[in-house]
Amino acid sequence: MEPCFPIETKGRPIILIGLMGCGKTTIGKELSRMTGMPLIDMDAIIEEQIGKSIPDIFRENGEAHFRALETALLRYIEGTIGSEKGNVIISTGGGVVLRAVNREILRRIGFTVWFNVDVPTLLERTSRSNNRPLLQSPDRVAIMERLHRERTPLYAETAHLRLDSSSISVRDTVPLIHEAALKFFV
Ligand code: S3P
Repeated sequence: MEPCFPIETKGRPIILIGLMGCGKTTIGKELSRMTGMPLIDMDAIIEEQIGKSIPDIFRENGEAHFRALETALLRYIEGTIGSEKGNVIISTGGGVVLRAVNREILRRIGFTVWFNVDVPTLLERTSRSNNRPLLQSPDRVAIMERLHRERTPLYAETAHLRLDSSSISVRDTVPLIHEAALKFFV
């Protein structure tokens, strides 16, 4: 089916941020279907470019190396702004906001949406995941609580739109983003 609800973004992306399990990928796919804007997943691009899975990159090269790859990819994306290539939806990794330089780029290049989801919901949604190195620990609850506490101010500083989406369905979330994006890009 043809996408019925395009958005004129002038070659700028809609960027989805938030903790692991907050719904970036699910909502990104639905928003992509609605608008016709391609969805690009930063983790998937890094895995493809490096030829290793995220857990392998963390294990073999360390988290700092992965963070440098995220910044390099954001700088590449920044170079596409204003062209057709920049007219995309970007699903980020949960830790993309850790570096100040990333936060600055994310806020400047596009419309950045933060899915603020409570810790129990995040734990439930990531319970079957084994591809997230930060959660490969018996103490997942304490880890998620810490990430939530430490990163909340960083997401808040970066986002143009905050959606408290613990109990909102994808179906209800996507039109909210669409409406806000239309206003943002006028
Ligand atoms: C991370 C989140 C992951 C991935 C990596 C680190 C984080 O992405 O980038 O495992 O620091 O929160 P998702 O948020 O898509 O799971």
